Amino acid sequence: MKAAPTVALVSASLLVGGCGRAPLNYLHGAGIQAQSLAQLAWGLGLISLLVVLIIAFLLAAAIMRRRDAVGDEALAVRRDGGGMPWIYIGLATSVPALLAMTVWTLLTIGAVAAPPTPPKLTIAVTGERWFWSVRYLDPQDPARSFATANQIVIPTGQPIRLLLSSSDVIHSFWVPKLGGKMDMIPGKTNIHWIEADQPGLYRGQCAEYCGLQHAKMAFDVLAMPPAKFEQWRSVQLSNNMRQPLGLALAQAGGRVFSNHCAACHAIRGTGAGAIAGPDLSHFGSRATIAAGSLPNTPGNLAYWIGHTQQVKPGAEMPPIALTPKETAQVTAFLEAL
Ligand code: CUA
Repeated sequence: MKAAPTVALVSASLLVGGCGRAPLNYLHGAGIQAQSLAQLAWGLGLISLLVVLIIAFLLAAAIMRRRDAVGDEALAVRRDGGGMPWIYIGLATSVPALLAMTVWTLLTIGAVAAPPTPPKLTIAVTGERWFWSVRYLDPQDPARSFATANQIVIPTGQPIRLLLSSSDVIHSFWVPKLGGKMDMIPGKTNIHWIEADQPGLYRGQCAEYCGLQHAKMAFDVLAMPPAKFEQWRSVQLSNNMRQPLGLALAQAGGRVFSNHCAACHAIRGTGAGAIAGPDLSHFGSRATIAAGSLPNTPGNLAYWIGHTQQVKPGAEMPPIALTPKETAQVTAFLEAL
């Protein structure tokens, strides 16, 4: 009997204690859409908790109450035994509460269906097993469109339009702190939006089971002030390396990349333009690798290249057999991008 309250207490303290730090915590929104949804989640959650408490209290009271009569007769709620008021009270409290919850939910869905102002930036995101292709669109100047993967950089304080689709099975786009979920369906483009109030790194996660590595189909949304975002965009459009790399090392690493990686991956400004795997342009500026599976460090990258099936069993990328020297060269090259 003691287990249930202990579990409830531990869950409640984890929930409250982890509010600020848990990266997928949808109970604290960081943008107008997520804040409306968080209010609804708290509201419906607390009402549901209240209902459980009332029922538990009534049940406990009924169990404790001494009964003189025993047998089936004593258990029935009888019309002539004064039982009907319980039915009326139950209906009179639950029907308005359920109606209010339905109306609140519908109003919130209506309020977050479209952003308050038309978005200036449109990003197309395609779910793939198991990573995210990201394409920044510039309808005025298509030459300023570019691709990246597994990290979405956005300016703060404005809504961002997302065109969501899939290249294989159904995935679902979800950044809990910035907005609700939206399915990504092959052959269909779903329009969605997110907005971040504050600069920061927000975790996204595929929210629809899509196969073996569904759990490791994550991504990062990096929100930055609009001026910094414009700088980031110019860097993305340039072909320069982010960090200076010795010419010999850059050439050697580039050669390893062309021989072993370029059949699947693209890097803007080089001969590599394949689209089977994630676009690796300016790869070194990303926070994580392998779709949010590991922090982006040279050590993790070197391990991933040789052990893809240990990190993500079933991933399309096979382990690449490189000598330790080649691994060091290609790792240095990619991290400098
Ligand atoms: Cu993609 Cu789950």
